[in-house]
Amino acid sequence: MSDHAPVLQSELDLNLLHRGKVRDVYEIDAETLLMVASDRVSAFDVVLPQPIPFKGEVLTLVTAWWLEQLENRLSHHLIAVDPDVIVDRHPELAASRDVWQRRAMLVHRTNPVLVECVVRGYITGSAWKEYAREGTLAGEPLAKGLQESQRLDPPIFSPATKAQEGEHDENITYAEVVELLGAELAGRLRDLSQDVYAYGRDVAGERNIILADTKLEFGVAPSGDLLLIDEVLTPDSSRFWPKETYKIGRGQPSLDKQPIRDWLDGLDGWDKTPPAPDLPDEVVRATSERYQDVFRRLTGVSLQAYVPPRFGTAR
Ligand SMILES: Nc1ncnc2c1ncn2[C@@H]1O[C@H](COP(=O)(O)OP(=O)(O)OP(=O)(O)O)[C@@H](O)[C@H]1O
Ligand SMILES: [Mg+2]
Repeated sequence: MSDHAPVLQSELDLNLLHRGKVRDVYEIDAETLLMVASDRVSAFDVVLPQPIPFKGEVLTLVTAWWLEQLENRLSHHLIAVDPDVIVDRHPELAASRDVWQRRAMLVHRTNPVLVECVVRGYITGSAWKEYAREGTLAGEPLAKGLQESQRLDPPIFSPATKAQEGEHDENITYAEVVELLGAELAGRLRDLSQDVYAYGRDVAGERNIILADTKLEFGVAPSGDLLLIDEVLTPDSSRFWPKETYKIGRGQPSLDKQPIRDWLDGLDGWDKTPPAPDLPDEVVRATSERYQDVFRRLTGVSLQAYVPPRFGTAR
């Protein structure tokens, strides 16, 4: 942990396969990827110009924290997150360690399933908008009389297509998932996603955090195994609401990005297309603190003190 310089964009001496809104994905070899979570932050699907210190570390280490607990429920892609383990397996990464340590995951390379597996346990966001208008979610009718941010029991599997760059994900029905992927895979995705969400909602709830919804991704390994991939139950892939401010019948403040949202709301003139406006230092600092607070609140340990699990990949 010698270097805390925020990373807007990593430049490792490896084959860069994908630069997403947040992650830089490198090829290590035919079976292995290095996923580096940068400190980029996006709003309305547009990446903002300033990095948020510690954000990448929070996303990666929150994922590792959950995956360690989820290991007996399903298979996942994580091979190693402990920098010592990563360097032992790939000594060529030692020289660039300051850039990637604690923000990188060494993972099994998969063929990603092209459906985003969203589970909603509270009705909010695009789901609330559709319901308020049509009484449906992804075209399927929901109970009448729901209020904004109301808890949904049971939680609802609400898949979406993975959008190409610059586009937004689109909600699809379960029948469409069956059509795309076949009934067997569709059923497994739904059941696994429901199980992960239910576990996450319970654990977060014990920490006075409402896990309103989450988006999971799965991939098929060369062996044919279905693996949980990408980030898992993080503030970027999920909506975390503080329990103490939860109130039904309105939108909820977010635990992490609220300073950015508030600041952008107060601006006039940004039309939510690139380029995004520069964030003031104060907003960057407040957001960084929020991300670190989420980590502490969820795991019970400060980000700085957290020692990532070794995932049984002993040296
Ligand atoms: N084990 C894996 N094998 C193959 N691809 C993976 C694996 N884990 C994650 N990915 C892919 O790596 C990418 C991660 O990048 P990132 O999340 O920054 O970008 P994005 O998904 O394009 O955009 P966003 O998440 O902001 O919508 C995703 O496309 C994800 O599907
Ligand atoms: Mg992503």
